[in-house]
Amino acid sequence: ESAESQARFDNKIDADGKIEPQDWMPDAYRKTLVRQISQHAHSEIVGMLPEGNWISRAPSLKRKAILIAKVQDEGGHGLYLYSAAETLGTSRDQMLEGLHSGKAKYSSIFNYPTLNWADMGVVGWLVDGAAIMNQIPLCRCSYGPYARAMIRVCKEESFHQRQGYEALLVMMQGTAEQKAMVQDAVNRWWWKCLAMFGPPDADSPHSAQAMRWGIKRISNDDLRQKFVDATVPQAKVLGVTLPDPDLKWNEERQHHDYGQIDWDEFWSTVNGNGPCNKERLATRVKAHNDGQWVRNAALAYSRKQQTQATK
Ligand code: ACO
Repeated sequence: ESAESQARFDNKIDADGKIEPQDWMPDAYRKTLVRQISQHAHSEIVGMLPEGNWISRAPSLKRKAILIAKVQDEGGHGLYLYSAAETLGTSRDQMLEGLHSGKAKYSSIFNYPTLNWADMGVVGWLVDGAAIMNQIPLCRCSYGPYARAMIRVCKEESFHQRQGYEALLVMMQGTAEQKAMVQDAVNRWWWKCLAMFGPPDADSPHSAQAMRWGIKRISNDDLRQKFVDATVPQAKVLGVTLPDPDLKWNEERQHHDYGQIDWDEFWSTVNGNGPCNKERLATRVKAHNDGQWVRNAALAYSRKQQTQATK
């Protein structure tokens, strides 16, 4: 029976079919998906914080409305993804406990501060731009609920990227001070965004198996390269300099070469010691605790409904 189930699973993966929640799947496949989808959900939820920070200080009603919509989208993505992970038999409480205790990972990128208004544009352009690059291939992930969730998530991310780029285009037509703010934000975010794609393929413990299972479709390094190649012309249109003296077109490879990423700094941030890790986690835990009364009320209401139904 189990050899037969394994063969059925392998055939489906080889034929590029979708695995659904009720299908048999190897424990390791399930575990990898729970790990990746829950980390992804946590990233969306923690990702609301660096931008939420600017809602009350947006420079106009239009920018404020856009920013609120975007941060709300991120919250929606998180809930969507927790639901996708729940189809694999893990509970939301378990996942949240992992996040709140500091055991679970979430994207390194959200542990850096957003220092000025230009950061809102750069987070949209570069951080969400990197997120889309990484997430479009996940629409073809072999696990059905994750793949389907990613379609809507990517559409919304595309709006996030465009609003960021547009905000920067406007600032770049402004005063010398505004242009300097944009360049400063690009300088601070560029390298962090390159690291977002994860460790180099050679140092990525999960990649080979995840690619074989059709969870990951494009490797960390290949996505990073695609991101660099796509971003260079956008930077030119914007009129900013990407802070990498080694960044140049390589005619032979037909790609841009780029400099060394600081992986020590990346791992230190992933392991809890980035500039904002403690603040982000504390804010998240407080928000969860402050919402306890809502969960209590919902539970009390549902119990009341049940007792009324049995009367
Ligand atoms: N930040 C934090 N941790 C990271 C990052 C990062 N940018 N990149 C890799 N890692 C972690 C992995 O989670 C893994 O940790 P674990 O073994 O404790 O789970 C470890 O580093 C080794 O990395 P890989 O072997 O490359 O791991 P994986 O195959 O999972 O690839 C990746 C990492 C590319 C992030 C993948 O999980 C993925 O595509 N996830 C879905 C997309 C996502 O989470 N995006 C979040 C940011 S976008 C946004 O929310 C707006």
